[in-house]
Amino acid sequence: MHFGRPIKLSFAFLDLLISLSMAPAARADTGTNTQGYIGSAVCRTCHPDVWFTFYKNPHYRSLVAPNKAPENTGCEGCHGPGKSHIEAHGGKATIKAFSQLSAADSMNVCLRCHSESLSRSNVRGSTHTMNGVACNNCHSIHKPATPKYLLAKTEAQLCYSCHANVRGDFELPYKHRVNEGFMNCSDCHNPHGANQPTWRMAARPRMVDQALPAEEPCLKCHSDKRGPFAFEHPPVRVEGCEMCHSPHGSTNSRLLRRPLVFTMCLECHNGAPPFGREGDGIQPLSRTHNMTSPQYQNCTNCHVSIHGSNLDPLFRR
Ligand code: HEC
Ligand code: HEC
Ligand code: HEC
Ligand code: HEC
Ligand code: HEC
Ligand code: HEC
Ligand code: HEC
Ligand code: HEC
Ligand code: HEC
Ligand code: HEC
Repeated sequence: MHFGRPIKLSFAFLDLLISLSMAPAARADTGTNTQGYIGSAVCRTCHPDVWFTFYKNPHYRSLVAPNKAPENTGCEGCHGPGKSHIEAHGGKATIKAFSQLSAADSMNVCLRCHSESLSRSNVRGSTHTMNGVACNNCHSIHKPATPKYLLAKTEAQLCYSCHANVRGDFELPYKHRVNEGFMNCSDCHNPHGANQPTWRMAARPRMVDQALPAEEPCLKCHSDKRGPFAFEHPPVRVEGCEMCHSPHGSTNSRLLRRPLVFTMCLECHNGAPPFGREGDGIQPLSRTHNMTSPQYQNCTNCHVSIHGSNLDPLFRR
């Protein structure tokens, strides 16, 4: 380790900031001591590694912000009052040690401050929480790989560390370019749990995020599919984009679920009796369509505006 001038300077700088900001240590006579809060400066003595990187952390700001309650300041904001820990010269039982906390208890620490955001309003009921994945499985407060959002690894690698099977989806010939760094899992998913979507009403939500209220995240980028159209193609709104597209990747061009477009169309436009939700009352193929003729097999050659049209109820323009 090299303790050159810059570090010494920042040492002095930190001390100055702390004393100027009247951090709890300096307010020893204000009565806060009865709760056992002693301030963060003393932690430096025994945990220099943690301390020396802390100034980069957004949680550091609480040390320099005036008038923060001691329970919301610095190290003790998360680890709780430090008095008995100091008196015992350390130990894991004398302080809130995350290595000893259950997933639920460690989440409660974070949510004391982080529960007001809308993007995390459903975190307690999310599939992640239900499966014991807590904040610090994804966020690393002291050794983050990304300064922004304090992620434990860069985002896609973080997700793949538990969802290895998904990596292959993004290596298929047609794919969204997540592995290339053009977009992230969180462009479509809310890892903190999304609210129930209104598309695909009976399907599992898969923590797929909503863009504008009740809108599929896809429309943020593919805004030409947003509509509203004078003539809507119902599955685009009701079943959602996933009815016809594999959102991660596909062996078929245009991320289509099936190699032959017409087989997808005929899942619904087959004239079968109205069994179930997706077969109900759907216009069968026109009698003019001769399915043995190759001309008719590529439905979107003629029905070009398959996502909806303002000009033609049959989506031919
Ligand atoms: C925002 C909440 C938060 C704040 C503030 C915080 N910690 Fe931590 N600390 C954690 C979590 C969570 C862990 C568990 C390891 C992890 O997930 O990174 C941890 C782990 C530790 C550890 C165990 C060793 C390690 O590196 O994992 C020590 C020691 C520690 N913190 C000391 C401190 C000190 C000293 C400060 C103030 C400079 C501080 N912490 C501020 C949340 C916090
Ligand atoms: C006198 C030295 C000393 C001081 C001062 C000190 N600690 Fe510790 N701390 C220790 C020792 C020793 C351990 C036990 C490490 C172990 O068992 O691996 C420890 C453990 C911890 C842990 C548990 C790490 C884990 O494994 O999860 C946390 C959190 C922690 N300290 C935070 C703090 C905070 C916050 C402060 C300031 C309020 C502080 N410490 C001040 C010596 C100290
Ligand atoms: C004492 C209150 C408090 C506690 C407890 C707390 N945080 Fe924070 N956290 C904050 C504040 C304040 C910010 C800065 C917000 C800002 O700058 O907009 C922040 C920022 C963050 C950020 C955002 C970083 C960024 O780049 O936008 C993450 C991630 C985070 N906290 C995670 C956690 C986790 C995980 C825990 C539990 C281990 C935790 N926090 C506990 C107050 C807290
Ligand atoms: C499954 C992984 C995962 C879990 C679990 C997780 N996060 Fe996050 N978090 C992320 C990712 C990825 C981002 C950055 C992308 C984004 O904003 O969605 C993020 C962003 C954040 C941010 C900054 C952006 C914002 O939305 O305000 C905060 C604060 C935050 N998380 C806090 C928490 C807290 C608190 C918990 C636990 C209750 C938690 N996170 C649990 C993955 C996770
Ligand atoms: C272009 C938007 C998009 C991106 C980017 C995306 N997802 Fe998805 N993902 C979805 C949609 C939509 C579903 C729901 C599919 C369904 O129900 O048919 C889904 C489903 C899932 C599922 C559950 C079903 C399954 O395939 O196992 C997991 C897990 C998942 N995604 C993880 C990830 C991870 C990890 C990343 C980043 C590496 C990621 N997703 C990136 C849109 C996306
Ligand atoms: C610590 C492990 C872990 C990490 C990291 C993690 N997940 Fe998960 N995730 C799980 C578990 C466990 C489940 C529930 C079981 C399952 O469906 O595989 C789950 C489920 C999901 C689901 C399916 C939800 C459903 O309703 O079926 C999606 C989507 C998902 N995760 C996305 C992500 C994304 C995006 C990231 C990265 C930001 C991520 N996960 C990071 C463990 C993790
Ligand atoms: C963050 C922006 C973004 C989001 C969100 C997004 N996409 Fe995309 N999508 C793109 C870009 C950019 C391309 C161009 C292909 C590339 O990246 O190589 C693309 C390509 C496609 C293609 C193939 C187009 C072609 O010409 O081959 C389809 C189909 C598609 N996306 C559907 C979806 C669906 C369905 C969703 C939601 C589950 C979605 N996208 C979410 C940005 C996005
Ligand atoms: C009923 C099936 C179906 C649904 C639902 C559907 N698509 Fe498509 N989509 C297609 C077909 C078929 C093509 C290929 C058209 C072609 O090759 O001419 C396509 C092509 C695309 C393309 C590439 C060509 C273009 O028009 O830009 C994008 C991007 C796309 N779809 C996005 C979406 C989004 C976003 C949604 C949800 C809002 C969605 N699709 C819903 C069937 C569908
Ligand atoms: C999930 C079921 C579903 C799928 C898959 C589907 N459609 Fe549709 N389609 C519908 C429904 C429902 C209507 C509205 C029927 C009505 O109003 O009578 C419709 C309407 C149409 C219409 C207008 C018919 C009319 O009389 O207004 C055309 C043309 C059409 N679809 C073509 C296609 C093509 C081409 C594909 C394949 C790319 C396709 N559809 C895939 C459900 C589906
Ligand atoms: C060569 C151009 C062409 C192709 C290819 C084509 N269609 Fe059509 N489709 C039409 C025309 C023109 C009409 C309206 C006049 C008619 O009934 O012939 C129509 C009408 C329809 C209707 C409405 C029927 C009604 O009675 O209102 C549906 C549904 C439909 N097509 C679905 C499909 C599907 C699914 C495919 C692919 C298997 C397909 N079309 C391929 C030209 C085409």
